[in-house]
Amino acid sequence: MASRLLFSLLLLLPLFAGAGAATCNPSDREALLAIRDALKEPFLGVFSSWTGKDCCKWYAVGCDPTTGRVADLSLRGESEDPILTRSGIMTGRISPSVCRLTALSTLILADWKQISGPIPSCIPSSLPSLRILDLIGNRLSGPLPSNIGLLRHLTVLNVADNQISGKIPRSLPFLSSLMHLDLSNNLISGSIPRNFGNLHMLSRALLARNSLRGSIPISIGSMPRLADLDLSRNHISGQIPATLGSSRVLSSLILDSNRISGNIPASILKSQGLGILNLSRNSIAGEIPDVFTARSYFTALDLSFNRLRGHVPRTLSSATYVGHLDLSHNHLCGPIPTGPPFDHLDATSFAKNDCLCGSPLQSCV
Ligand SMILES: *[C@@H]1O[C@H](CO)[C@@H](O)[C@H](O)[C@H]1NC(C)=O
Repeated sequence: MASRLLFSLLLLLPLFAGAGAATCNPSDREALLAIRDALKEPFLGVFSSWTGKDCCKWYAVGCDPTTGRVADLSLRGESEDPILTRSGIMTGRISPSVCRLTALSTLILADWKQISGPIPSCIPSSLPSLRILDLIGNRLSGPLPSNIGLLRHLTVLNVADNQISGKIPRSLPFLSSLMHLDLSNNLISGSIPRNFGNLHMLSRALLARNSLRGSIPISIGSMPRLADLDLSRNHISGQIPATLGSSRVLSSLILDSNRISGNIPASILKSQGLGILNLSRNSIAGEIPDVFTARSYFTALDLSFNRLRGHVPRTLSSATYVGHLDLSHNHLCGPIPTGPPFDHLDATSFAKNDCLCGSPLQSCV
């Protein structure tokens, strides 16, 4: 009896000895070495700790403590830590070996400025647990993987400030956990998928500074959590969906520098909670709906460089707050209302209209 107990203890001993130092999965270690070999970081030495057996102790690598599988790879070229002010540069490519880290939940290779080549197309089918994919601020090119919609746990997709081309994949609206989407400042063309509104967890949709065409899908107006929508500096045409104004959470709507036409839906200006509205530099026509209320609170309201006609809306003076107002470069006419916010605005807010008058412009005769 006693010898049997001793025997089993001896069997268990190596397990306990290994428990404290969960050495990493050998195949994950091989994959990390291949990732390192495809990148070059000459200044900071971020890969200097990437030697030895236990890859879970390597800089920027995190393992699941129970399985020993690599779960996080988080390398940022611009440190959020104020003490480490040096910012790095990395060249090379993202090795497709990243797809062998099949337990990966976070992949961050951000702000290294020079990482080039494509986003490995094997990522969506190989990394089912991926929650964060952040590749901002590099020189990545080629399209987003067409089957990106397979990543059902993805909450953050950030590829801003790269040279990504091609269209928004048709599968993207199937990212049912996505909360933060940032594709800004790339070379993405084509239109926004009609069913974009399927992204019912999405709170930030940042697609500015691309070459997107076509109209804003109606389905965007029924996204329950969308707080920030930025489509500025694209070639978007068509009208602003009035349904966007019925959102209770939309706080920032930035559509400047597109080819948007039609009128401003009254629902947008009435929308509770909308604090930043930039429709500058479009072809928006008609009158500005005179529908502001005491619940209106705009830190920025920029309607400049459009084809707006009629009066400056009188109800704007009932708004609780209007910080920056720009109605310049339109075809507005008539007296500028008095009282707040009009008494703190200067002439540039009203410049280059057809026949506006009154303070801060010249008095009406
Ligand atoms: C609105 O967009 C225009 C054009 O891109 C830009 O010049 C302006 O600064 C923006 N307005 C605000 C308040 O950010």
